[in-house]
Amino acid sequence: MNSTKQIILLNEISKLKSKEEQWEPFTWYKEMRENSHVFYDADQDVWNVFLYDHVKSVLFDHKLFSNKKERSFIPVPRNEDNRSNVNHCDPPEHRNRRALIAHAFTPRSLEEWRPKIQAIVDELITEMASQTKVDIVEKLAIPLPVTVIAELLGVPSKDRKLIKAWSDTLFYPYDKETFNDITKQKAQASREFFEYLYPIVQEKRKHPLNDIISDLTKAELDGERLTDAEVVMSSIGLLGAGNETTTTLLSLMFYCMLYDQPGIYQELRADLSLVPKLVEEVLRFRFPVCMDRQIAQDTTIFGHEMKKGQAVLAWIGAANRDESQFVLAEEFDIHRQGNQKHLTFGAGPHFCLGAPLARMEANIALTTFVQRFADITPVDEFKVTEHLIASPGGGQSLKSLPIRLQN
Ligand code: HEM
Repeated sequence: MNSTKQIILLNEISKLKSKEEQWEPFTWYKEMRENSHVFYDADQDVWNVFLYDHVKSVLFDHKLFSNKKERSFIPVPRNEDNRSNVNHCDPPEHRNRRALIAHAFTPRSLEEWRPKIQAIVDELITEMASQTKVDIVEKLAIPLPVTVIAELLGVPSKDRKLIKAWSDTLFYPYDKETFNDITKQKAQASREFFEYLYPIVQEKRKHPLNDIISDLTKAELDGERLTDAEVVMSSIGLLGAGNETTTTLLSLMFYCMLYDQPGIYQELRADLSLVPKLVEEVLRFRFPVCMDRQIAQDTTIFGHEMKKGQAVLAWIGAANRDESQFVLAEEFDIHRQGNQKHLTFGAGPHFCLGAPLARMEANIALTTFVQRFADITPVDEFKVTEHLIASPGGGQSLKSLPIRLQN
């Protein structure tokens, strides 16, 4: 199968063409939930589900909806030889692969990282302190996740710009018009990233330290050590998984405070215990996220006949606004009951390993920020469509967000 056929193009399914529509896909989500909640796209041979319960079933039922897939919308070049790839596999195989890295993300391990994350946040916020207008994406949302994940892995965080550039290219979504160019750029980024990490892995195998790459060099899968190349591929996976996603969360927190619920900032200042609630509501409300699986056997499900080998897309962003789960789902409300039921971190066996880390980064960053600045306000001339970039999860993300700061 050639690479064009391996890629599912999300925007060809949603038919949301303009940046405006892709930034606010919520009307389309609603329409699909109400009128076409199990939708078959014949052009790409892909089933699409939009309701909360259906999305959750797809993510949980690995026997029917497999993560071993020939096609995916996830725009990272495929590497089938990597035995340690935690995502493209199913239980029971998945259990041992996940165990290789899971212990680095337990609450206890993460607590050890709290002071380090706080120090990175403090440094970034101090750099902003003398200014009255900043691009919060550039100053906080981009550097925080890449610095944290680089340090966790044991990669020099001084190289964060390089790492960020490679992982952005690897995760940049494909589209029909620029398919060949993007494929070439990804191949080059993949090569450069590999060549950068390889000697680091070799060095850590000889002289292990207290970091994830060192742990991976010692880890065994089915009685055999991972090869250097496998450790490199796993590290690239983690550097990618933890980067753009957390940047999106941090950027959206500021967007929601400024544009979805102006005034909420003062509520947070009066009661810092609301910070985690805001973080959860941002995850539910605005995250452009989707997941895909492959049908493992012919079946009739959700009232439709599906065939072995067909792809299924679970539109998590649409499930997160399903009224059957969230009362007044189209409203941004940090006080809603049960907003943590959102599916932004997935569900079932592949539930995001980095969720506690992403939450910790967001909570530390926002708490520290709110304590430091008296208020934030929008810049007058701001027009969101001029600040967007295609998001790997479909739709658009913020590439910049200028805000005014009051000390
Ligand atoms: C707001 C930030 C994040 C979001 C929205 C997010 C979202 C997700 C989602 C939806 C999945 C499920 C994939 C599937 O079902 O196939 C996932 C898996 C995963 N995430 Fe995250 N993620 C975030 C941050 C992170 C961070 C910081 C890391 C750590 C480096 C990370 C590492 C992983 C890994 C390793 C998996 C694969 C788990 C498995 O397949 O068993 N993520 N993430």
